[in-house]
Amino acid sequence: MDQAAQLRKMKVKAEMAGVNSSECKAFEKQRNNSIRVLAVTSGKGGVGKTHVSANLAYSLAKLGKRVLVFDADMGLANIDIILGLTPRYNLHHVLQGKKTLQDVLITGPGDISILPAASGIKELADLTRGQKMTLIEELDNLDERFDYMIIDTAAGITGNVLYFNMAAKEIVVVVSPEPTSITDAYALIKILYRSHSEKRIMLLVNMARNYQEAREVYRRVGSATEHFLDLTIEYLGYIVYDERVADAARLQKALVEAYPGAKASQCLIGIARKLSREPAGRYNIGSVKFFSNAIIGRDCE
Ligand SMILES: Nc1ncnc2c1ncn2[C@@H]1O[C@H](COP(=O)(O)OP(=O)(O)O)[C@@H](O)[C@H]1O
Ligand SMILES: [Mg+2]
Repeated sequence: MDQAAQLRKMKVKAEMAGVNSSECKAFEKQRNNSIRVLAVTSGKGGVGKTHVSANLAYSLAKLGKRVLVFDADMGLANIDIILGLTPRYNLHHVLQGKKTLQDVLITGPGDISILPAASGIKELADLTRGQKMTLIEELDNLDERFDYMIIDTAAGITGNVLYFNMAAKEIVVVVSPEPTSITDAYALIKILYRSHSEKRIMLLVNMARNYQEAREVYRRVGSATEHFLDLTIEYLGYIVYDERVADAARLQKALVEAYPGAKASQCLIGIARKLSREPAGRYNIGSVKFFSNAIIGRDCE
């Protein structure tokens, strides 16, 4: 079906569902966006999601990409802290109508933009319809400004985590070689896959001793998903265990900025290159639309 026909169909459905035209205009506009929305997630906490998000963002920025990091971990030590930034406002202020997204974004190393975590909101899924609309309209204004949106989620399978993973088309599951991390990664993938099969799920092995160990972790998770779910997950790459990660955190700097020659930095730069080399495929066209639709619900589909 061509795009115009799809839009017409969407409009009719929306009218039948009682959605007003300004809401649907927001969706129409988003059809042409080409921002890539990647959720960085994990089953178990402490496996390195925030470091991966910050350093992938920085590395992509160094490759000339315009990157926004959406800090979606409402509870814990966050990206602004590891990067030594002190945000004054966050998403909460946007949802209250006190600030625009533009006012709230802060600039980090390499000119990456960061949307600080919304402290004060327990579950994004609990937002009122008006708040969801505010969020969509604000996100809509970002579409031309960024090439990538990286969502740093909390760990586990709580409402918010699933909410953000539902919103992104590409999901990077971070796993460490620890057995509990592997079983939790599998449990998360199972839930993600069962509820939303149209996803690209990639495995990123962090804190591996070497390539062999990382491949073994991938083999274990991958064979379980193939055997039990009939799902092939992609291997995105690995990041070696490196003391420099902690050193950079102490300096409150991105690892790749503070220690570009460190082994873990080289891994991260390689992964950023791999992602950026990919042509815009079926997963990464118009992802903001999917992001917004997932937030507001299914009224316009
Ligand atoms: N590749 C690595 N090598 C060594 N330490 C790491 C590595 N990745 C992360 N860490 C450390 O692991 C801890 C958890 O990382 P963090 O990014 O906060 O995890 P998460 O966001 O998944 O909870 C931090 O102390 C961090 O310094
Ligand atoms: Mg984190």
